[in-house]
Amino acid sequence: MPTQSKSAKSEPTKSEPAIWLRKDLLDTADLNLADFNLIFETTEAMIEVRERPVARTTTLRGTTLATLFYENSTRTRASFEIAGKALGADVVNLSASQSSVGKGESLIDTVRTLEAIGADILVLRHPLSGASTLASKYTNASVINAGDGMHAHPTQALLDLFTIKQHLGELSGRKIVIVGDILHSRVARSNIWALLTLGAQITLCGPATLLPKYFTQPKSDLQNVTVTTNLKTALSNADVVMTLRLQKERQRNSIIPSLSEYIRNYQINNDTIALAKSTAIVMHPGPVNAGFEISQEVAEGKQSVISAQVTNGVAIRMALLYLFATRTTDFPA
Ligand code: CP
Repeated sequence: MPTQSKSAKSEPTKSEPAIWLRKDLLDTADLNLADFNLIFETTEAMIEVRERPVARTTTLRGTTLATLFYENSTRTRASFEIAGKALGADVVNLSASQSSVGKGESLIDTVRTLEAIGADILVLRHPLSGASTLASKYTNASVINAGDGMHAHPTQALLDLFTIKQHLGELSGRKIVIVGDILHSRVARSNIWALLTLGAQITLCGPATLLPKYFTQPKSDLQNVTVTTNLKTALSNADVVMTLRLQKERQRNSIIPSLSEYIRNYQINNDTIALAKSTAIVMHPGPVNAGFEISQEVAEGKQSVISAQVTNGVAIRMALLYLFATRTTDFPA
């Protein structure tokens, strides 16, 4: 596949007054520059809270957070729970296997039930794209999408961008390379929309079968996205290398010829990371399949910020919970 350049989804605009009015967080595509700035400023304040001798406040006393997971999770679920408790919220954790979903209860009924028992904020992970959007229409509670099918994972993208800013400063003009299974990756999609709004230059790299057609066909609104199947081309002059897990659970057919060929052409290891800038950082949303999309040495090496991503996940989620719990406008469902 040839390398293609596309035009920007949106240019950064001047910041507007910092105020959070949104009912839900369904994807980063819904956020503007002022939203990103407000979330990142609030996250800085939350990091300060986390660094206190007693890393807790009672700011969200009286707020109830319900997490509802229809898919497995370690990082997202644990960090929302820690974030809610650190702010003094009441936290209820439900997984589909423990709830009445097993007795045939629908998503809409479950969401309405959680609202009826007092949930103010619902964090939802679901295997179907659009599940959070559907849920948000049936509840007055704020819905935060914690990953829906192949569609979006906005809180992961937010913590990724915050981590990049922490290590490299402003994102505008930075070359961010996303490598691997982009087709099935909600993390990639949410990162792309957010990075475009913040003015980054994005390169998507992987086998042709793992690159979504949306990004490989000419689109006038995606000028800052380049697509290539060649890892060497992709990594040249890269500031950030974001690797993605091979999502076997979302691959209906075998769409890579062999794992060993994938590793040979697309693994981020000591040889391939040397093609990026020496100052480049290496990211992975987790869970990591070390030895496949990334070598153990690089995942644990000096350029890796994977642990910082996980740590920042708590402060980002504290910031979002705070913003939703203290938002000033009520919206109809
Ligand atoms: N990155 C991410 O969503 O990880 P979990 O599946 O562990 O939540």
